[in-house]
Amino acid sequence: MANEREKENAAIAAIEFVEDGMTIGLGTGSTAKYFVENLAEEIADGLMVRGVPTSEETRRLAESLGVPLVPIEHVDRIHLTVDGADEVDGHAQLIKGGGAALLREKIIANASDLMIVIADPSKQVEMLGQFPLPVEVTPFGYTITAKKVYDALKAAGVAKPRIDVRNGPGNKPIITDGGNYILDCHCSVIPDAPRAAFELASVPGVVEHGLFIGLARTVIIGQDDGASVFEY
Ligand code: A5P
Repeated sequence: MANEREKENAAIAAIEFVEDGMTIGLGTGSTAKYFVENLAEEIADGLMVRGVPTSEETRRLAESLGVPLVPIEHVDRIHLTVDGADEVDGHAQLIKGGGAALLREKIIANASDLMIVIADPSKQVEMLGQFPLPVEVTPFGYTITAKKVYDALKAAGVAKPRIDVRNGPGNKPIITDGGNYILDCHCSVIPDAPRAAFELASVPGVVEHGLFIGLARTVIIGQDDGASVFEY
């Protein structure tokens, strides 16, 4: 079970990677929130950086804390991105998107010189798949896309995928920052995550999926009394 101190200690350890003059991708979620808060304190003490938020939620948080922001379209280099994860395995492969921000998170992580994942120990897994894999799809044709997503996961060796449309208030599909829907894919185990990523990416209607393969190179796991840093 996650505790808040573990999350915050992971975030504090990530601050060590921040240098003056950096453009920093700001992740989304309860762990990334601690990073933004701690970064804001450093900025108040004179650190000169600017942030690129991975969601509207993080944009609002950063603005409220006085973190200078820059639109991604005005950026030609992102030095560092610090973000949470729903699951991380021993190869720094991730499931992300529990907060529905996976599209912007992946665009920004992929554009960054370094992606650092911050997490509490409950996110560490032997094999990805216990957490339902979020897949962002266009509203147009989403029921058909969901069937193709099922086929793609089967082709990647997932035994019995179950696909739910993520609903919000009023039992209506939630709308992402990009105007799309989220399919939550219950897999139990994803035996070959790179293959699943490949199969999902080839489905028309899939905008992005929450498998982050080969993106994170540093994983920081917070503990009650500090944090462990793993380099890949
Ligand atoms: C947001 O879409 C996600 O990718 C989050 O980074 C992920 O869900 C981790 O969130 P927590 O830090 O709140 O667990």
